[in-house]
Amino acid sequence: MPTNPFTYGNPISDPTRFYGRAHEIEQVFSRLCNPEHESSSLVGERRIGKTSLLNYLAHPDVRRKFGLDPDRFVVVYVDLQMVDKTATPTRLWQRLLRQIARNCQAEPVKQILEKVRQEQVIDNFALEDVFDSVDAQNQYVVLLLDEFENVTENPNFGPDFFYGLRSLAIHHHLSLITCSRRELIELCHSDAIRSSPFFNIFANINVGLFSEADARQFIALSLEGSGVSFSDADVSALFRLAGYHPYFLQAACYFLFEACARNLPPDERARFLASEFREEAIPHMADYWHNSDDHQRLALLLLALLRRQSKADRAVFSMSQLQDYYARSDQMLSHLEKRGLVVSHPDGYALLNSAMGEWIVNEIIGVELKAAGTDSSPADQTPAYITKLRQNLESYFNDEDLRNLCADLGVEYEDLPAEGKAGKARELVNYMKRRERLPDLVKMCRTHRPKVVWEDGPETAAAAPHGRAADALAEALSRVDTRYQELVMGWVAGSKNPMAVSHLLQSGLNVSEEKDHV
Ligand SMILES: Nc1ncnc2c1ncn2[C@@H]1O[C@H](COP(=O)(O)OP(=O)(O)O)[C@@H](O)[C@H]1O
Ligand SMILES: [Mg+2]
Repeated sequence: MPTNPFTYGNPISDPTRFYGRAHEIEQVFSRLCNPEHESSSLVGERRIGKTSLLNYLAHPDVRRKFGLDPDRFVVVYVDLQMVDKTATPTRLWQRLLRQIARNCQAEPVKQILEKVRQEQVIDNFALEDVFDSVDAQNQYVVLLLDEFENVTENPNFGPDFFYGLRSLAIHHHLSLITCSRRELIELCHSDAIRSSPFFNIFANINVGLFSEADARQFIALSLEGSGVSFSDADVSALFRLAGYHPYFLQAACYFLFEACARNLPPDERARFLASEFREEAIPHMADYWHNSDDHQRLALLLLALLRRQSKADRAVFSMSQLQDYYARSDQMLSHLEKRGLVVSHPDGYALLNSAMGEWIVNEIIGVELKAAGTDSSPADQTPAYITKLRQNLESYFNDEDLRNLCADLGVEYEDLPAEGKAGKARELVNYMKRRERLPDLVKMCRTHRPKVVWEDGPETAAAAPHGRAADALAEALSRVDTRYQELVMGWVAGSKNPMAVSHLLQSGLNVSEEKDHV
């Protein structure tokens, strides 16, 4: 079988397998090579390609190409993931100085590095001595500091550390290239550090999605000489599923390549790609979501719902359309675009890919996507409204309330065959279901907790009139997982057009439409 040229595990370390980012690279080197040897802060989401970019910048061939004299520029990459609760500025400097010594050609600098490195405490005076020597020998130190938030968020690193580092970068031959998930100023453990002038030495450079041209070039050049080719339709499907996200795209290409190399028929190939990709991508989509605030989540949910509703391949929505549903779309979309979760087009905005849209809707309705290959609608699944009923009982009733509810229904609480509130709630639902008394249960629940949304079972629901805003809202809310009900209710209540939002939710949170687009 041909060797798969795509990888999605480790960062890219071979510059011939590194694609795109021309603009970011240009910015970093032009700041580095100007007379002030300025520092840069690369900011981007997890898995967007920051470490790959640092690896590329650090590669000797690349440095040479951009005119950094290898005899004078000492470039050192350090992964700061090892900075933990026990780390201190001295220990970090010991590590950095050792690495600098290893890479430095000038003997006098090496000697002083060795000496200072042995000291019990490395203070700013000692560091001044080191960098005096670096300057005197006409050397330039460039520190590539990956995951730098591990330092800014670590209380062991106080204002002193940052003042010292800033002073070295301003007055000596030292430049810093940091990577972090968000802008450093947002990732500080204290206000004293947040307001320190340290951050002024950096220009923030956003690391986002590939451009379409970069994504196409990445696929075409990766496939060269592999003996496998992707059709135009394949490439369109890849872009729909993964977007121009370097990691998602590598993973999707990897699975499609596998399917092609195994000669799977087209149908099976598409299924294989979708299910393998989904399994790989879910934890990362979940991570992006869990690192979004409520406003960002609503903007993402809005795009996901509109995408479902439109059913068009090209799910792009104009700002005014989005603002009709959610007034704060404007600010949120620019954040989300920087994070690579949203793509802007000349005529509007879209989610980065279909997989994220599908995941968001499932998250909101509390459906966990199954692992690869399993059907999403097994016949024996508990109906969603029963699950919701149980969850509501658990969330809105304490043990005492549950006893009272049972008493009003004429059910012996003690006889329910389970321990604890969750167990009793489950058994109460089962008991009522077996006796076909679920409508009684729902009615009694409404009496006890009138503010909670209680969904009728299919029999009663079918008889309910549709179309009115209140009905649409109630129906939509009954589909929303309890974890998100407050968020969604807040959205509807605060919107200019609650009716439109309710209807959008009602149509978009429809489980049966789950599998479109993928
Ligand atoms: N410039 C690039 N060219 C090709 N693939 C890339 C590039 N940048 C990132 N990738 C892909 O994305 C994955 C994650 O990249 P990585 O650099 O580890 O991200 P981060 O450090 O931001 O978490 C890599 O394993 C690789 O598959
Ligand atoms: Mg990384």
